Amino acid sequence: MMSLGRVFIGGALLLLLGNAHAQDGKQIFTQGGSQPGAMPCVACHGPDGLGLPAAGFPRLAGLPAEYVRKQLVDFSSAARSNPVMEPLAKALTEAEIAAVSQAVAALPFPAPATAHRSEMPGNAMQKLALQGAWERQIPACVSCHGPAGAGVGDAFPPLAGQPAAYLSAQLAAWQNGTRHNDPNDLMGHIAKSLTAEEVQGVAHYFASLSPEVKP
Ligand code: HEC
Ligand code: HEC
Repeated sequence: MMSLGRVFIGGALLLLLGNAHAQDGKQIFTQGGSQPGAMPCVACHGPDGLGLPAAGFPRLAGLPAEYVRKQLVDFSSAARSNPVMEPLAKALTEAEIAAVSQAVAALPFPAPATAHRSEMPGNAMQKLALQGAWERQIPACVSCHGPAGAGVGDAFPPLAGQPAAYLSAQLAAWQNGTRHNDPNDLMGHIAKSLTAEEVQGVAHYFASLSPEVKP
């Protein structure tokens, strides 16, 4: 009887602790979630959430909270499949996802600098980014992702300041179908219309539009 009581009290305590933990997004960011497998985000996305460009780990700092929340839900449903983030997102509760999304959105990220012509990987990539390629039904990237790729609202994430290796990996993921989480297959259609050279070039172009993260 004694031990049953203890188990019950222990369980109630764990629930309470779990709740307190879930509400503290900053703590999930630095120390991980309440369930096994919910690793701290800082381990890969860096102490300031600026990502790890060499490894192709994206920045989270300053991304819209609703976009981050949607990605974590998409990882856990495998609409966006990734061997690292899929199990991790599944290990977070709904409340933890909401809290950590708010926390990373609140991390500061400097506004992207305007492009320096000398850093551009060629006018063809700038043209693709700024004007699209209408003969192939590819709209300008900036028409959805905003001027200088700074992002627009909750649905269109920033491209500027993300590592080039990350951006090109996402375009490749849409091309091979491992990422199929966007409304109306907008990005799927665009990515599949790009050549391998354009994927690399446009990724470097947007990655270079930031003083913080070099491609
Ligand atoms: C072990 C390394 C690792 C850890 C720990 C980790 N991530 Fe990630 N994360 C990645 C990688 C790698 C990607 C890129 C996945 C891809 O290519 O689709 C990523 C991508 C993301 C994205 C997509 C960003 C975008 O621009 O679409 C979000 C959101 C994210 N992680 C959130 C988190 C959160 C929140 C945590 C902590 C609870 C976390 N990650 C912990 C490695 C990690
Ligand atoms: C019609 C609107 C639209 C246009 C045009 C567009 N995108 Fe996107 N893009 C989106 C949406 C919406 C998402 C987010 C999908 C989701 O919810 O995961 C996205 C996401 C991305 C991502 C993933 C970012 C991340 O943080 O994971 C990359 C990379 C990307 N777009 C590159 C491009 C490039 C390069 C172009 C131009 C060749 C382009 N996009 C044009 C709508 C658009």
